[in-house]
Amino acid sequence: MIRVNENFAKLQSSYLFSEIAKRVKAYQAEHPDKRVIRLGIGDVTEPLPPACIEALHKAVDELASRATFRGYGPEQGYDFLREAIARNDFQSRGAAIEPDEVFVSDGAKCDTANIQELFAQKLTIAVPDPVYPVYVDTNVMAGRTGTCTKGRYKGLVYLECTEANGFVPALPEQPVDVIYLCFPNNPTGATATREQLAAWVRYARENRALILFDAAYEAFIRDPALPHSIYEIEGARDVAIEFRSYSKTAGFTGTRCAFTVVPKTLMGYTRKGESVPLHPLWNRRHTTKFNGVSYPVQRATEAVYSPAGKEQTRALVDFYLGNAALIRATLKELGFSLTGGDNSPYIWVNVGKDSWKFFDRLLKRAQVVTTPGAGFGRCGQGFIRISAFNSRENVEEAMRRLRKVL
Ligand code: MLT
Repeated sequence: MIRVNENFAKLQSSYLFSEIAKRVKAYQAEHPDKRVIRLGIGDVTEPLPPACIEALHKAVDELASRATFRGYGPEQGYDFLREAIARNDFQSRGAAIEPDEVFVSDGAKCDTANIQELFAQKLTIAVPDPVYPVYVDTNVMAGRTGTCTKGRYKGLVYLECTEANGFVPALPEQPVDVIYLCFPNNPTGATATREQLAAWVRYARENRALILFDAAYEAFIRDPALPHSIYEIEGARDVAIEFRSYSKTAGFTGTRCAFTVVPKTLMGYTRKGESVPLHPLWNRRHTTKFNGVSYPVQRATEAVYSPAGKEQTRALVDFYLGNAALIRATLKELGFSLTGGDNSPYIWVNVGKDSWKFFDRLLKRAQVVTTPGAGFGRCGQGFIRISAFNSRENVEEAMRRLRKVL
């Protein structure tokens, strides 16, 4: 008899973005004449930077000839890309990360989902609330939680992110083993200062805890005082894993490339308290379960770091930040309090009403798709998230429609 993993039964009915897609599809089937504008899931709309396209073409041509053909690459990523990452994303900011501490992958979603395989079953896990659902759902699937009541799983420690704390959670009152942090934050768009991150690093060092730092939206930081990487904080190498993605940085949501940094000095512990380096564990997991990102995509990613690629990706991110500024200005003008959108592509709006009802209202009356804050956790109730990923024309049209209906 095939027994199933019954932990799946504890999950909320469907993944948040699938539920939204289902509702939008149903609405469109009933109203085929209406043009829906999607500011829900953060999916890019603009073409890849020309430097990436050029590198892709060139790499594809290499695959066309026996002399330059490539089969399996190293699972961890080609050296040319790992070196470019270590130099440009870390060493240039004073963060001592070496190329062999970088693991190239096909997405930060997959990596933040898979990382928990390295950990023991019985752990105290802290997640922000609201939270990117992947962090929670993957631990539920792995059986690290009890059942869910009123949007909260038994066994998880929820770090509340509210208007009162500027959506940057306070340190937990009880000891925790693993802490998921995401800055610039998805969904709130909030950012953490150097001092705030330093407090988390101190906490992790004092409690032998591990920080899982999701920096997928790092490229949207424009405030020069804000840290881009947790490794800019002294001592973070010993307590943090960082996740990055090219999805939003370079428009790679469909192209797929990301990376995870596991410093060699980072330790986990056995039941007896002996320390075990996490780098070889992740290396073992990665090489067993993953066969690498394709060669042309890694070449396209390398081009992100070329002088032209840097300029073009910055312009791309600036374009979406321009959309975000429009959204912020409109919602403010309409009298809503909000956060995000200045160093992040997401705008988190306090709508003062049930999130899903407000979502439905915007869909039905304005044909604008947003993301209901309640889908990200209990503290998200009363909020919606608006994504800045769309064409300028669509964002302007969506804002005109919101002005009419709100
Ligand atoms: C989001 O909208 O939160 C993201 O696009 C989802 C993701 O990156 O998986």
